[in-house]
Amino acid sequence: MNLADSSTLASSLITRGYRRVADEKDADLIVLNTCSVREKAESRVFGRLGEIYKYKREKPYMKIAVVRCMAQRLADELIKKVPHVDYVLGTDRLFELPDAIEGIEGTSSVMTAFGHENIDMIEPVKESPYSGFVTISRGCDNFCTYCIVPYVRGKERSHSDDYIVDAVKKMVDEGVVEATLLGQNVNSYKFGDTDFPKLLSRVSKESGIKRLRYMTSHPKDLSKRLVDVMAEDPTIMPHIHLPVQAGSNRVLQKMGRIYTVEHYLKIIEYIKKNLPYVVLTTDIIVGYPTETEEEYEATLKVVSEVQYDSAFMFRYSVRPGTEAAKFIDDVPEEDKIRRLNKLIKMQQKISYDQNQREVNQVRFSLIEGYSKRNPEKMRARTDGNKTVLFEAQGLDEGSIVPVKILAADAFTLHGEIVKPN
Ligand code: 5AD
Ligand code: SF4
Repeated sequence: MNLADSSTLASSLITRGYRRVADEKDADLIVLNTCSVREKAESRVFGRLGEIYKYKREKPYMKIAVVRCMAQRLADELIKKVPHVDYVLGTDRLFELPDAIEGIEGTSSVMTAFGHENIDMIEPVKESPYSGFVTISRGCDNFCTYCIVPYVRGKERSHSDDYIVDAVKKMVDEGVVEATLLGQNVNSYKFGDTDFPKLLSRVSKESGIKRLRYMTSHPKDLSKRLVDVMAEDPTIMPHIHLPVQAGSNRVLQKMGRIYTVEHYLKIIEYIKKNLPYVVLTTDIIVGYPTETEEEYEATLKVVSEVQYDSAFMFRYSVRPGTEAAKFIDDVPEEDKIRRLNKLIKMQQKISYDQNQREVNQVRFSLIEGYSKRNPEKMRARTDGNKTVLFEAQGLDEGSIVPVKILAADAFTLHGEIVKPN
């Protein structure tokens, strides 16, 4: 989502006559599009601001802007902490950056009030000539107790289904073959009587896109009908990212996640039964306030039962202003680290095993370019969203080719192009 917003902001600056430079030290304006979801994301931004300061010392006319979530959360405090920051533009205000720079009336250097964004004015932008992101809804109304997103991204608001279909159609006309629909919780998408399964079908049938993806799902809202729509439609890629967060009902309840482990596992069972080639991924937090060893073990049990293809795993970090920030962060840091490391190790083994299941299968894969480490090989993304490398040269980026998987490690598949007979 941040990548999509960065591209949109870049294109709105370019339309106003700004130019992108290859090297940041040549820039007269540097924009940091920020994330607040974990403490680490924020400390990295402070680190980057420190690095950028050395350019500004040499050319004091240089402008530095911090936009989106961290700007929203910290507002004036950010400039107090880092005085060389010139603009702080929150969630709904980021696209006013050119106005603020040019001193247009009504703008100022710190803008964070919500309700200023006309969401249908935001033009979706291509990630590359062949793939694009379309944000279908912004914000989140779920208020999971650990999460800063609803505070910094505001209330959930959906784009109209017509806007989304048109946006994907436009990308297709420009050569895009794969589109990803984005939202904090796509399953709660609602516009008039169009819900998410209906939207997905419409985009697939009416836009002419070859491959369609979406993210992220919330287990409380993922319906059987969505799985049925995916099962019937080969344009919708067989990948579901379904954050479980924790494996014990008490912790899930304290997290405000609304579902139980049993409900979650039932959905997984339905998905696996109806989408035999599905790739399942998840997000997990360990060391949530009051999480006991047994409750942590319950998370490991779910991970072992589901057999995810991969997972994003985090140790809990306090986000000031959230409900969970009122709880005592009582799991010692060394326990959090130990729990996380053990989980990562376990998941790596499962990822390895899951990837072995791909061996000897043929996966239609979208060519993205060359392998970074080995330019003899080309890199593509399978329908299930895994990276596959194969020996080839000069194939067109953005073409979809059948690749037979020959071997796999925990992170990457290795294969060969299937030649037509
Ligand atoms: N601490 C650790 N992880 C968090 N996430 C969200 N908030 C926190 C937090 N306070 C994780 C969740 C979410 C992912 C995007 O980030 O797992 O799904
Ligand atoms: Fe955060 Fe929960 Fe909303 Fe996801 S669903 S963005 S975890 S509040």
